[in-house]
Amino acid sequence: TGPELFLPHRPNSKGWDITHRATLAEIDAGREPFKTHEWTGTPLSSAWQTDDTKTARPVLNPANHDDIVGQITWATPEDAKAALDAAKPWDASVADRAAVLRKIAKAYEDNAEEFFALLNREAGKTMLDCVGEVREAVDFLYFYAAEAEIRNPTPRGLWTCISPWNFPLAIFTGQIAAALAAGNGVLAKPAEQTGLIAHRAAQLMHEAGVPEDVLHLLPGSGDIGAALTSDARLGGVAFTGSTATALKIRQSMAETCAPGTPLIAETGGLNAMIVDSTALPEHAVRDILQSAFQSAGQRCSALRCLYVQEDVAEKVIHMLKGGMDELRLGDPWDLTTDVGPVIDAAALKTIQDHIATARDEGRVLHERATPATGTYAAPTVIRVNGIEDLEREIFGPVLHVATYKARDLDRVIEAINATGYGLTFGLHTRIDDRVEQVLEQVHAGNIYVNRNQIGAVVGSQPFGGEGLSGTGPKAGGPMYMPRFADMVVQPVPA
Ligand code: SER
Repeated sequence: TGPELFLPHRPNSKGWDITHRATLAEIDAGREPFKTHEWTGTPLSSAWQTDDTKTARPVLNPANHDDIVGQITWATPEDAKAALDAAKPWDASVADRAAVLRKIAKAYEDNAEEFFALLNREAGKTMLDCVGEVREAVDFLYFYAAEAEIRNPTPRGLWTCISPWNFPLAIFTGQIAAALAAGNGVLAKPAEQTGLIAHRAAQLMHEAGVPEDVLHLLPGSGDIGAALTSDARLGGVAFTGSTATALKIRQSMAETCAPGTPLIAETGGLNAMIVDSTALPEHAVRDILQSAFQSAGQRCSALRCLYVQEDVAEKVIHMLKGGMDELRLGDPWDLTTDVGPVIDAAALKTIQDHIATARDEGRVLHERATPATGTYAAPTVIRVNGIEDLEREIFGPVLHVATYKARDLDRVIEAINATGYGLTFGLHTRIDDRVEQVLEQVHAGNIYVNRNQIGAVVGSQPFGGEGLSGTGPKAGGPMYMPRFADMVVQPVPA
């Protein structure tokens, strides 16, 4: 008999409705003890021994560099190799593995306020993003636990999971949960900017019952990632980050791993939205603001290039500027903040250089002033002729806007496809045929119609791109966990 093809029933995280004053007050009180707390992070592995010669590095809040979030000790490539020597697949039944994953989910919810504080202070996340992120991490745990139970996967062995700073809990957890659900051992390398969040999450995983020789946490810089992606013993690599790094990993795996060792890469995007003249401007503008500026634009799904049909462009852009002026910029600890800082000084410089060039060329349509402390990038709108003017993804609150004539729609779609990326795409229209046309012609993993284009929900909106945006299978979908296992899954019937 073949594997079950349909999505399993699963409980979802109940989440937090922060539109309720009482919920907000509870969250605020719960995270208060963590406002000045300093966390300590280290590698976590059965092979790791405390080593006094290694100095811990201070971790600073991107919103305010005087705020010390904690100290983290990085692993060395030798530690990574020692962890690989010690790592073992998870020798527990599917039912036991699923039970532990659900226990981790519960531990995350029980410690949610601590995670909110960590996500605020280490990653600069606003409260809306913190809540969404913990919920997504919990959903991944439930989803892959249920997936493993119905599919009974055979592990591939050892997986390296390399996760990004922009979803330091959700993506970190999603990769590891899928690998563990399939019964693999895991070498986890979190982004260097967000090692403390990863450390706290891995601690809870171990406490819930994942053995220390099965899950190894190796915080550090790129040399750890290099050591963990060039070893013949690997069963696979899951990577979320830049397209350039994914290509390097593929090269290194081709040289060192067994032929056919899978690489699951989720990478960047040059995501577009088309707003035609039938769209409701108020509705479109709300969704543009969320897609481009929520999370300070630091989502791979974020809107980078907006195409507005000429006939409505003046009105839409006018309203967009007004909406931007209403965004609250500031410390993400403040519950009313809409846009927090970008992750670090290097990220800020890239964004600022890009804006400076556009300013010199007279293409800045609107920009906000930024708070004085921390690494804040100004939400900015830049005029472009088309998406072909964007040389690369600018990972911040910068929106590019082009106008188009109705008769040129085919050419606009061609230009969007010609970028080679294909992650998210948004459409605002009230014409059904146009929706059909876009669904048929646009090459993108996730297409959203008459809504924003961020925040895919685990289970109902599997997330991932094509072309330069990723290798598929989509996270939070039925094809993801099986890729970590030695099994064939039939496509879900239409
Ligand atoms: N899963 C995230 C989103 O949909 C990735 O950026 O926004």
